[in-house]
Amino acid sequence: MIRALHRWPGLLALVLVTVLALSGAALSVFPMAERLAASQAVAGQSVADLAVRVAATHPGLEEIRRAPSGTITAWWFDGGTPGSAVIDPATGADVGSADPNPLERWLTNLHRSLFLDDAGRLVMAAGAAAMLVLALSGAALVARRTGGWRHWFARLRGPLTGRLHVELARVAVLGLSLSAATALWMTASTFDLLPDGAQRLADPAAVSGQMAFPLERMAALRDVPVHTFRKLSFPYAGDAQDVFTLSTDAGTGLIDQGTGELLSWSDLTPWQQLSETIYMLHTGQGAAVLGLILGLIALSVPVMGATGALIWAAGRRGRPRLRDNAPAGRAQNVILVGSEGGSTWGFAATLAHALKDGGQTVHVAPMSGFDPAHHPLAERVLILTATYGEGDAPASAKGFLDRLDRLPKAPTAALAVLGFGDRSFPAFCAFAAEVEQAARAKGWATLLPMDTVDRQSPQDFARWGRALGEALGMPLALDHQPARPDAHSLRLISRRDYGAEVQAPTAILRFALPKVSLWARLTGQGFARFQAGDLLGILPEGSALPRFYSLASGSDDGFVEIVVKKHTGGLCSGQMLALEPGEAVQAFLRRNPGFHAGQGRAPLILIGAGTGIGPLAGIIRANARRRPVHLVFGMRHPDSDFLYGDDLAAWQAEGRLTRLSTAISRGARPHYVQDALRAEAPLVAQAIRQGARIMVCGGRDMAQGVARALEDILAPMGLTSAMLKSGGRYIEDVY
Ligand SMILES: Cc1cc2nc3c(=O)[nH]c(=O)nc-3n(C[C@H](O)[C@H](O)[C@H](O)COP(=O)(O)O)c2cc1C
Repeated sequence: MIRALHRWPGLLALVLVTVLALSGAALSVFPMAERLAASQAVAGQSVADLAVRVAATHPGLEEIRRAPSGTITAWWFDGGTPGSAVIDPATGADVGSADPNPLERWLTNLHRSLFLDDAGRLVMAAGAAAMLVLALSGAALVARRTGGWRHWFARLRGPLTGRLHVELARVAVLGLSLSAATALWMTASTFDLLPDGAQRLADPAAVSGQMAFPLERMAALRDVPVHTFRKLSFPYAGDAQDVFTLSTDAGTGLIDQGTGELLSWSDLTPWQQLSETIYMLHTGQGAAVLGLILGLIALSVPVMGATGALIWAAGRRGRPRLRDNAPAGRAQNVILVGSEGGSTWGFAATLAHALKDGGQTVHVAPMSGFDPAHHPLAERVLILTATYGEGDAPASAKGFLDRLDRLPKAPTAALAVLGFGDRSFPAFCAFAAEVEQAARAKGWATLLPMDTVDRQSPQDFARWGRALGEALGMPLALDHQPARPDAHSLRLISRRDYGAEVQAPTAILRFALPKVSLWARLTGQGFARFQAGDLLGILPEGSALPRFYSLASGSDDGFVEIVVKKHTGGLCSGQMLALEPGEAVQAFLRRNPGFHAGQGRAPLILIGAGTGIGPLAGIIRANARRRPVHLVFGMRHPDSDFLYGDDLAAWQAEGRLTRLSTAISRGARPHYVQDALRAEAPLVAQAIRQGARIMVCGGRDMAQGVARALEDILAPMGLTSAMLKSGGRYIEDVY
């Protein structure tokens, strides 16, 4: 809801809000320029003194005004000709033209009304309203992204466009809300929608009827210092009944021209003071520095507009085009999708198609926007969701469980959950299982028990389709062929071979960084930005299914590196190990934020065996800030598979690696990483006390052995691995 509130006004009002912001930013310069240029009155100068000086140079004086910048302007009638000038208060002499700056006037007309009078004013007011909605909904989104209002300035992650958008937003949102809200107030005031709140000045009961009392002796003017003065209107020449009208910061009064006495006075009402403050906050007139700050802030609007549009476009690209997606309010079937990499959307589209062919109405949407009130006619809800990390929700399902939890009662439409996962992960389809469990706990009636699809298997999907068809009493043939991800050609630059002697051929393969489009760079997609621990999906020849390898380099390294071990009968690993420099593979990038080293100075304990060294080596290579890193590495024999052996020595000498412990599993006394870890228990415990993050990469058996050793090390400290995991301080990349 908040996101929709942010997205649509943003896209619709992009041009209008940009014009408002840029013209506002340009206008913000004028109050400061005027203030710097204005001849200021000397301290203690009175309005009587000023009036005497100006009247001496301009006998037919009609009015003197002081702008909030301090600029004094006078208007007079000289021999029937009107005149005006900016005045030096010290001498009363003319120092410049009183005509407004033409550029300022042009900008003001553009900013207020697009040169279109009332219609233009209303359009610009709509722009200001859009800006206010954007600023407020944006603030809520910033708080959501940073983990709450109290973490407003927390570090941001993710692609450059998204970070830039939020970085600017968190600085600008307050100023933009202020400018937009004050603009709306001023428009309402222009259209007389607000009371003016002024007190009526009492008509002077007794005017003396005399004229020409000397200005310098008028007490009502002598007591008013110039810096609080705003306007003095002179009586009409020859009219003995007319009076002086004086306005100051405190109010307005009438002065007898024959006696110099104050005839009546009216204080500024609190309402008038509020209106003036709002005017000042919007225009910077009287608060030039604040005006400049607000102007600078307004300059962020076009950048946020452009980055916001890019974010929106990138989000749309992640989903397939769903033709004939029925509106939520009219759909019998609601398909909710939990996807990170996009493939589950393809399955959802196939399912939607098949249901529509069977005469059903179908609405497909991300799980994150789940709200049963949006689909009152739904007869069934079909959830298709992937799982990431250790049973975590994929991107388009974030927040689903909270939304379900907050429902006062279970939805009436029956539910079927289909999990998409990979059996090689320990938490196979764990998020789908959690959804199913939460639904049952809520009392949500199910149409089918939960089922799973392993590695995007078309057969698994078709089987579930048949079961769904039976439950619906209609034949449902789901024939889905997963689309190949957009892949790049990666050319091998070099390879380093290991492990032949221990019957485990393994290679460190280094590829040239592929060309990255400007679009990818701006949106942080693909190979534009990645780091060690992210995944490289390789599409082997003869298979549509990608195989994933942990990256042993980051984009800053300028190359793409992975470590591959040959598996007996393995299609992909066989092709990879046969690759010669100059040859290429088809590959794409998949982010894996669950296995990143993170910023900060806390120590890292990196534990890996065999090819598991890959992402850990990449992390050490990237450790330019010399964060303490302890690597525990298991190999079969140092003469055959000491992967990155020379690099580790060099990185240790450079301070990128603080300590290296190795475990050798072949030989008289087999030694595994968990043994090395136990041998280093005091050091490991000390690092954990200092807030260390533990990262484990390698085979499942090794990870289990490491987990047991760590439990033993943690227990005396009153800690458990679950506690560290929940704080993101114990992360695994296990295969
Ligand atoms: C980084 C990463 C982590 C994953 N973690 C799990 C997991 O813990 N359990 C699981 O069953 N599948 C896991 N998978 C497999 C995905 O859930 C599966 O490939 C799914 O079909 C992807 O759907 P999507 O492309 O719509 O995101 C993981 C995949 C990746 C790339």
